[in-house]
Amino acid sequence: MAWGGFRTIGGVGRVFVTRRVPGRAVDLLEEAGHEVTVWPGEFPPPPEPLREELREADAALTLITDTVGADLLAAAPRLRVVANMAVGFDNVDIDAATARGVLVTNTPGVLTEATADLTLALMLAAARRLPEGSAAVHEGRWGPWDPGWLLGRDLGGLTLGVVGPGRIGAAVARRARAFGMSTIYHGPREAAAFPGDRMPWEELLRAADVVSVHVPLSDETSGLFDEAAFSAMKRGAIFVNTSRGGVVDQEALRAALESGRLGAAALDVTVPEPLPADHPLLSAPNLIVLPHLGSATRETRARMAERSVDGLLAALRGERPPHLVNPAAWWPAGSGAGR
Ligand code: GLV
Repeated sequence: MAWGGFRTIGGVGRVFVTRRVPGRAVDLLEEAGHEVTVWPGEFPPPPEPLREELREADAALTLITDTVGADLLAAAPRLRVVANMAVGFDNVDIDAATARGVLVTNTPGVLTEATADLTLALMLAAARRLPEGSAAVHEGRWGPWDPGWLLGRDLGGLTLGVVGPGRIGAAVARRARAFGMSTIYHGPREAAAFPGDRMPWEELLRAADVVSVHVPLSDETSGLFDEAAFSAMKRGAIFVNTSRGGVVDQEALRAALESGRLGAAALDVTVPEPLPADHPLLSAPNLIVLPHLGSATRETRARMAERSVDGLLAALRGERPPHLVNPAAWWPAGSGAGR
């Protein structure tokens, strides 16, 4: 063998799938002739079993709950591809994967609409105080109809500031416009598909009644929403985050809610996940937290799993996979490049 331990091009590969996934994903891998192991646990594989499973694997189908770091990659000498079943890939050390010639793929596109739907659901829930109303009914506090009880805000007429105007951010803006909102965005470059104007960071924070975050987690975006950001926002603004918990300084968020600087916050993502029920953040007023449900529809999760499999199978066939996160790791089979 001329290079590495990679023997699967045109042959049978060993594939490790780190959780049971919906849809036909595992069938597709088996139909392609690969030897597939699916982690049977209800929870993600702990680091040691994961390392053990990847020791002999040619490919891994991973989830955002799997930390794929440099050490793990170094202990997986045959690994050719990590197909991460998510649009985000901050759980994978991309530099380490690239250095080892391991291809990393993600699943953009197929979860855009589901995540945008959930973002609007959060926005509406916060603006119209749905959790408070629902809790009042369940707790026997529903009195006669009261013209002044549980008053929220009309979304129509408000300005939505989207931070991160990619596919999901633009899909959120399209929905928001259907509700009569104006939409503006902040991002590193012009976003032609976004229905609204680009604004400098501080101007957006000052102008928006609702701020919705759709950036990937990276060194640049970690802790982006800090005390200064929340202080720059309009008094009473609504903050929505369906991207990654790490983009928010949660202590600053809690303080902004407690002081009334922020009117409400609605989060689908936190640090850590799961967020323990006694976490200090949960003591903040006017806060809604969901357990990372952005892409959680049957259809979307099945499409995500199948999209991951498409990339994984392409890589094992020696083809450049679609949705390759680290093109620098790509080297055509037999070129002698890479490892
Ligand atoms: C989910 O959080 C994803 O990145 O797809």
